[in-house]
Formats: sequence, C-alpha cells, structure tokens
Amino acid sequence: MDTNSFRGEDEAALDDVTRGMTAQRERILGASYRLFYRRPVHLVRGEGAYLWDADGTKYLDVYNNVASVGHAHPRVIEAVTRQMSALNTHTRYLHTRVLDYAEDLLSLLPEQIDQVMFMCTGSEANDLAIRVARAYTGGQGIIITSESYHGNTELTSAHSPALGGNQLPDPASRRIAPPDGYRQGIAATELAAWYAAEMQRTIDAMRADGVAFAGLLADSAFSSDGVFLGEPGMLRAGIDVVHTNGGVFIADEVQPGFARTGDTFWGFARHGVIPDIVTMGKPMGNGIPISGMAARREVLEAFSRQIPYFNTFGGNPVSVAAAQAVLDIIREEKLQDRARIVGAQLREGLSDLAQRHELIGDVRGAGQFTGLELVLDRETKKPAGKIALQVIEELRNRGVLTSVAGPHANVLKLRPTLAFASSDIDWLVGALDESLLAVQP
Ligand SMILES: Cc1ncc(COP(=O)(O)O)c(C=O)c1O
Repeated sequence: MDTNSFRGEDEAALDDVTRGMTAQRERILGASYRLFYRRPVHLVRGEGAYLWDADGTKYLDVYNNVASVGHAHPRVIEAVTRQMSALNTHTRYLHTRVLDYAEDLLSLLPEQIDQVMFMCTGSEANDLAIRVARAYTGGQGIIITSESYHGNTELTSAHSPALGGNQLPDPASRRIAPPDGYRQGIAATELAAWYAAEMQRTIDAMRADGVAFAGLLADSAFSSDGVFLGEPGMLRAGIDVVHTNGGVFIADEVQPGFARTGDTFWGFARHGVIPDIVTMGKPMGNGIPISGMAARREVLEAFSRQIPYFNTFGGNPVSVAAAQAVLDIIREEKLQDRARIVGAQLREGLSDLAQRHELIGDVRGAGQFTGLELVLDRETKKPAGKIALQVIEELRNRGVLTSVAGPHANVLKLRPTLAFASSDIDWLVGALDESLLAVQP
C-alpha cells in the first residue's frame, strides 16, 4: 500500500468533468475508495506498455503488474472471447482447461509443490494459505514483514501492517523487519546471516509469548516494505530457520511471480528456496480475475481432508483461458529474458541519473521490479517522503504513471508491464530527470 491515495481533495485544480466524476464517485461508491494523484487520471484505453486518457493523452505505465504481458494483449483477448463464446462454468463440473492449466502451472514450480487450487484474488489465496498452514502445523503464529500487504479479507488484513493502525492485527502474528540492507547499513554479504538471526529471534519471541509457530508469509520482492529483492540467495538461510523450527514458508508471489524478476520465473526461486505453499494472483490472468494457491500435497492434506472448498468463480474456464494465454505469451515472447535485460538497462540509466541528483539515495531491484529510494541527505538517509509524492505528481504531468512504497513512502516503485522496452527507458529516465529538478528542496 502507499500514500498516493486521494479522494479528490484538490478540487480547485480539477477541470469540470474530473471534478464531477470525483464527486459522483465518492457519493455513489463511498469514501473508502481512493484515487491515485491529486489530479485523478481518467483512463479509457491501453495497449502494450501504454495507456490513454479520455483527452487522448498517452501515458507510459510504470506501475502495472496486472496487465503484465501488456495492456489489451490480442492473444489474451482472443482466448477469453473464444472460451466465453463456448462456455463458462465452475470447478464442480469436469473441464479439461483447468486440468491442462494446472499441469502447466505446476510444471513451472518446484517438483515438491504438486497440487494447486484456484481463487479470484490474491487476498483469497493468502487467506486460504494461512488456514492451510495452521491446519498443517497445528500452530497459529504467522510471521510477516513490518510493512507488508497480503490482502483485504479479515484474516489477511490482520496480516497486513501496511494498512496501518486501523486494522486489528492478528493476535498470533508477529512482525519481522524486511532485509533492508541500505537503511540498516548491512552489506549484501552479511544480509543473509542477519536475516536468519532476525528470523530465529522473532520465532523465539513468539514462543516466549506462548504462541506456537505456524510459518512465514512473505513476498520475496518486499514490495510494500520498500522493494528489496536483494542478491540471489539472500533469503535462503532465513527460510532454513523457518523450516528447522517446524514452520512452513508461504511465498506470496502476487507481486514477484510470473517472470517479473527476470532471473527466474518466481521470486522465491532467485533465492534457491523451496516454499511449502505458493500464492499467486495479479499478473496471472493479465487483468481477468484469477489467483491460485499451490502447495506440497502433504501440507494441503490436513486442510483439504476436512474442509471442502468451493469458490464460484475460482478456476472458471474463461479465467483459466486467460491464464493459459499468459503462460504461453511469457514463453513465446521470452518475457522473462526481456524483464532481466531491460530491467538491468533501466537501472543503469537510473544509476547515471543518481550521479546528477543527490535526492536519489539508492537504486535497487531485479528484472522489471525497481526501487528508487529518495533521501534528503545521503549521509543520514533521511527519507524524502513528501518529495517522493511530489515527484510522482510531476511524473504524471509528464505522462509517466507510478507510485511509492515503504514505511516512509519515499521509494518509487517502478514496476512496468513486461511489454516495457529498451526504447521506453528514455521517456521514463528523462521524465524523472525533469521531475527531480522540479522538486528540488
Ligand atoms: C503481495 C500482495 N499480496 C496479496 C495482495 C492482494 O491481492 P488482491 O488485491 O488481488 O486481493 C496484494 C495486492 O496488492 C499484494 O501486493
């Protein structure tokens, strides 16, 4: 979650149409819905890495990991249209699509993970994963990172500190800091050992409170914590600690999954670890709602033997057709290679920019997942949260859409579609250059 969250407060700056829509939205949809940007964007069309608003202005989408293979990808449209024209039902009837897709998806996961269930959202996947982890281990205690977001159900929001103080934390959950080598001042070579020690300390503290350990629920990109993909292997020792203490590792792949991190298809795989449960969502259907929870058969059994699971829309043939098209496109268009190569080129461009802008404290990431941390002072690393929000408004004025992350909301989260090409880098880096100049403190 982030603080790029508005309700149209800046009314005076809005044109008549935008002001009208913003007010109507709040009147009809209620105050819980928030908008990106002080001057909301009214999008009407997308194609590949780009979006267009109602006035015909073109934008570069640097935030969208849902339409991950590109907006309005013709193959996804074709697959969905064809299946919708034939039939759409649910998983209580036999259908080859869901079986073929499940086999394909499992072939991309470690062989130990051999069963998969389907839902509609990442929240539902994590909700089920927590229940499965508790049923398997007999413990209740789940460790999460200190600024993580895992969903909007009662159970997952209770495991989502990023939602802030208004959510009731789960009494059995405990928080661990993310592996933030930059702010903690820990060298990459020391980070794995530090993280493993933190993990053991957190498990010990949980036990001292009388809570039995069930497992760790973590997004290996630490997206809402501030984007810490780290060196490959960084998480391995920490996950070993989870396992030696009898817990399960739930890898929340809603953000890093489906080729985004470039080196590997899944975020956890960069670290050479084998999770017990993997949850996935957002990019899985390129905008068509579908999510999944895959697990080791043995882990799933304690839950599934006792509780029948039905999700009306989960795994329906139309959503699965979209999901199958996504896998096919990633392979055929070699989007994992593209994420790795173009992402590295982008970070090179950003590192060059950092030579000219003192505000840039750190450039980090892997594949097409980059964090750009803004600081007021490179020595003290004082977070430039307010400035980061101004920067994203300036970027918006230059047609670049993105947002911020982290506890200080000072990390620009650059997470474009995988359709983003080398030729888009100039637009993004140029707009950042101008935006950083425009907000000089
Ligand atoms: C890491 C992570 N997990 C889970 C979710 C929840 O997914 P959904 O919004 O599809 O329920 C999100 C959404 O932002 C997320 O970023």
